[in-house]
Amino acid sequence: MLERVTALTLGVLLLAATLAVAVRDARPEYGARQARFRQLVEQRLGAEAAAAVPAGIQQIWLPGVGRADRCPTCHQAVVWRGFERETHPWRTHPPAILSSHPVERFGCTICHGGQGWAVATAAAHGHVPNWSEPLLGDALAASLAPGLRGRQLQQVACNGCHRYESRTAGAEVVNRGKQLLEEKGCRACHRVDGRGGLIGPDLTWEGDKYPGQFDYARLSGRPTVFGWHLAHFADPRALVPGSVMPNFHLSVGDAAALTVLATSWRTVAVDPSLLGATPRRPAPPAGPTRAAGDAEGPGGWFIRTGCAQCHDVTVFGVKSPTPIGPDLSTAAEDTERRFSVPIETFVRNPTGVMEAVFARQLMLSPAQKDEAVRELRAAWAAEQARAAAPR
Ligand code: HEC
Ligand code: HEC
Ligand code: HEC
Ligand code: HEC
Ligand code: HEC
Repeated sequence: MLERVTALTLGVLLLAATLAVAVRDARPEYGARQARFRQLVEQRLGAEAAAAVPAGIQQIWLPGVGRADRCPTCHQAVVWRGFERETHPWRTHPPAILSSHPVERFGCTICHGGQGWAVATAAAHGHVPNWSEPLLGDALAASLAPGLRGRQLQQVACNGCHRYESRTAGAEVVNRGKQLLEEKGCRACHRVDGRGGLIGPDLTWEGDKYPGQFDYARLSGRPTVFGWHLAHFADPRALVPGSVMPNFHLSVGDAAALTVLATSWRTVAVDPSLLGATPRRPAPPAGPTRAAGDAEGPGGWFIRTGCAQCHDVTVFGVKSPTPIGPDLSTAAEDTERRFSVPIETFVRNPTGVMEAVFARQLMLSPAQKDEAVRELRAAWAAEQARAAAPR
């Protein structure tokens, strides 16, 4: 008897659940949104225009990326004129960006993230568990960094296709990141697009790293890759004790720009037809990459050996393109003052950045190290002579 009651109850529950799903599908969320849009069109453009508003699921099939974007099911006004002041999802899309990237070819998610095939708001915007590409909107941006806007975060997506341009109109955050990459001399230690040093990791595909590949033990706040980079740019050693990456004392905005740039360096699986004539290869360096100075004259050794990648040697007229280390004109004396060791000992057994330089980038033999000491002493002697000379 009891079993029959249980079976009956289960049966009824199952039926109720099935009915509930059927009812929900018959009145999907987008139905009301489409009705509202039709009403707006009728008010503004008349009954005939309203009758032409499509009903049901609207989708853009994108063979170039192998997916369908159903965002226009709710965002019906995207390519209509005259709805610029409506609230979302009934607002006209900013038109300029769509004239160079027509929605029928590019869809929506390629720039905005989100879950293309979903037709309920939370799911479509990717605010659901286990969806790794949530909408690159204001909500996500604010949760990653205070003050960050969706349209800034979105540039991660722009740079997937535009990475080899030195500047892209409309991607100002990424442009700033690219400028900092050159100005701060990141390539003295990092290889990016096949060019740069070996002291830090190759960053060419940094954006492909999984969240699990970062250590969040020292990160306060939510453990996100974005948050990790922000904190690391603010102070590398706070996250990676003993790191030789310098603290560049970046503003919050500049740290965010480099974070957007670094996370944009990911492989994008789009058909070449969606890359058009955007460059497929790294651009030639924007600034000088070699030190200026006489490679054969006094101080030429610093240029030939590679020290001048990071150091000026002003007394010999050697000018580094990215002087992230101190001027070597006074190093022979400085090491005594700063590290309390004579220059021989420092060169033989350096600490900090120079330990990494000698271990990974410029592997000098003992004889070459002796030469380094002689050159550093010569620079200091020349510097003293210069200072003593009458002006
Ligand atoms: C079921 C209806 C629906 C679908 C489908 C939908 N949206 Fe939305 N969208 C909305 C509504 C409602 C709003 C305004 C309220 C809000 O922000 O949640 C909105 C707002 C937005 C905004 C501006 C707000 C922000 O957070 O930046 C963007 C951008 C957006 N949607 C993009 C998309 C993309 C891309 C897709 C497809 C992956 C999509 N939407 C699919 C209903 C929808
Ligand atoms: C080529 C990239 C690109 C594509 C493709 C694209 N958008 Fe956008 N979208 C943008 C940019 C850039 C902005 C912000 C423009 C601005 O703020 O000046 C934007 C703005 C929006 C907004 C307003 C967001 C806000 O915060 O106010 C919505 C909603 C939106 N897009 C939805 C869509 C939908 C739906 C599609 C597909 C039918 C789509 N977009 C296709 C780049 C794109
Ligand atoms: C899927 C790849 C892809 C994405 C993502 C993308 N673009 Fe583009 N973009 C293109 C292509 C292709 C062109 C046309 C270039 C050509 O063929 O010369 C283009 C052209 C442009 C142009 C030049 C337009 C003109 O009129 O000359 C600008 C500016 C631009 N994109 C900015 C952006 C911004 C900003 C974003 C992010 C919101 C973005 N793009 C996202 C592929 C992309
Ligand atoms: C003096 C050498 C040096 C310079 C200059 C330098 N870095 Fe680093 N960087 C490192 C080293 C070493 C690491 C690995 C240890 C760590 O994570 O701090 C690193 C780590 C990183 C990481 C984390 C990579 C990962 O996945 O763990 C990023 C991103 C990064 N650097 C970007 C930059 C950028 C952008 C610049 C320029 C603004 C820069 N670095 C300048 C040495 C350097
Ligand atoms: C990848 C960049 C890089 C390269 C290449 C490099 N250095 Fe350095 N070097 C630095 C940085 C950064 C410092 C500052 C270290 C610190 O403060 O811990 C430094 C410090 C020094 C110092 C101590 C200077 C002082 O005033 O305290 C000496 C000496 C030195 N380097 C010599 C050399 C020599 C010689 C070479 C070439 C064989 C060389 N460096 C190549 C980045 C570099």
